[in-house]
Amino acid sequence: MTDYQRRLKWFHEARFGIYVHFGLYSLLGRGEWTMYSERIPPKEYAKLADKFDPAPGAAREWCELARLAGAKYIVLTTRHHEGFSLFDSKYSDYTSAKHGCRRDLVREFTEAARACGLKVGLYYSLLDWRYPGYFEPEKYPKSRADLVDYVHHQVRELMTNYGRIDLLEYDGGWMHDLDPDKENQIGFWRARELNKMVRELQPDIIINNRSGLEEDLDTPEQVVRASTPGRGWESCMCIGDSCAWGYTRFNPNMKTPEQLIQYLVQASQGSGNYLLNIGPMPDGHVRAEEIERLTRVGQWLAVHEKAIRNSERCGLIGSSQPGLVDLNLQGVWTRRGKTAYWCIFRWPGTEAAAVRVDTRPISAKILTTGEAVDFEYREKGGKLILKGLPPLPPDDLCTVLEVKFPKVPDRMEEPHPADWLFS
Ligand code: GLC
Repeated sequence: MTDYQRRLKWFHEARFGIYVHFGLYSLLGRGEWTMYSERIPPKEYAKLADKFDPAPGAAREWCELARLAGAKYIVLTTRHHEGFSLFDSKYSDYTSAKHGCRRDLVREFTEAARACGLKVGLYYSLLDWRYPGYFEPEKYPKSRADLVDYVHHQVRELMTNYGRIDLLEYDGGWMHDLDPDKENQIGFWRARELNKMVRELQPDIIINNRSGLEEDLDTPEQVVRASTPGRGWESCMCIGDSCAWGYTRFNPNMKTPEQLIQYLVQASQGSGNYLLNIGPMPDGHVRAEEIERLTRVGQWLAVHEKAIRNSERCGLIGSSQPGLVDLNLQGVWTRRGKTAYWCIFRWPGTEAAAVRVDTRPISAKILTTGEAVDFEYREKGGKLILKGLPPLPPDDLCTVLEVKFPKVPDRMEEPHPADWLFS
């Protein structure tokens, strides 16, 4: 096992985490980009700081909900692009320790996460909209230099003052002019020096790819997209619209529990993780719509987590189109070792047929109920028909069929695409 594999072992076993976006923007209820998108000058926006007063125990509520949801780690925004830090800092007075509640929420959060048995993730935005040197580095060179120094100091504080940190999620590393040259971005943030310091302070930490350097994790956003085999990746997603990580009071497009589970299953198929976001309300409490969804996901995971935890990449498909394109009409297969889990999103009725399965199964059962299932396997074309299923889906969100094989199952090649016509 390489050091990289060792550091990511817990991450792969987890497969599911909760993201928490909380800051001054939460008080406005229009998402975390409000200061910039409405061009609210820092002096005016900073008036929110003295109103920032989350209920005592809010961080514990987030962590208890994450545990109830079946998440194994939780990530909090320690400072978002707005510049307000949720932790006591020697390098900024614009913090929750010096305004409003006058509390170090990062400390409350890290303690609550550990008390709930969760791994600790910290999100940190490199950019800070209050610095003109971020927007126009040539015109404001001192502001640019001050910003980067302050970033390095604050990251050092986060890596030093809060015990073991398991995951560091940078964000906001892009250049304001969206310069695609990664070396320019790496140079702007002095990212190599920054991450060397992080790893010296937290040798086992996992670092994402948003400081400009690849580091340990790819982070597809609002989409599930697997990285190359062997590389860790994590799909991060909002329950509501993609524009609303922070609390957005009127958010018409909340994903259903079914959809959330489908994304989690798809991430597991690709041996990646799903980081699902909540945006606590101004008082720090979690909105009912988010509590309801996370509770339902947790209930499903409690019964079906074998199909998710520590999953390995699975090449099996339900039904298929030409080549590697897969319709997933019934649902998505996940895998752990020689056992595959067909996670059925659209219940087909008393029979479920999969094609291009390269290995005759040993046995099959409905994981949801434990009920054994008959099957027919046709070597030619690898067609697997699971029979005698109940006419209605045993689980109202996603029924899982567990199929054991004598070896690691995979997708059968289809060199003669017309052959099935004559079978
Ligand atoms: C994007 C958003 C940012 C959010 C982040 C979460 O960068 O702009 O607001 O915190 O995604 O990954």
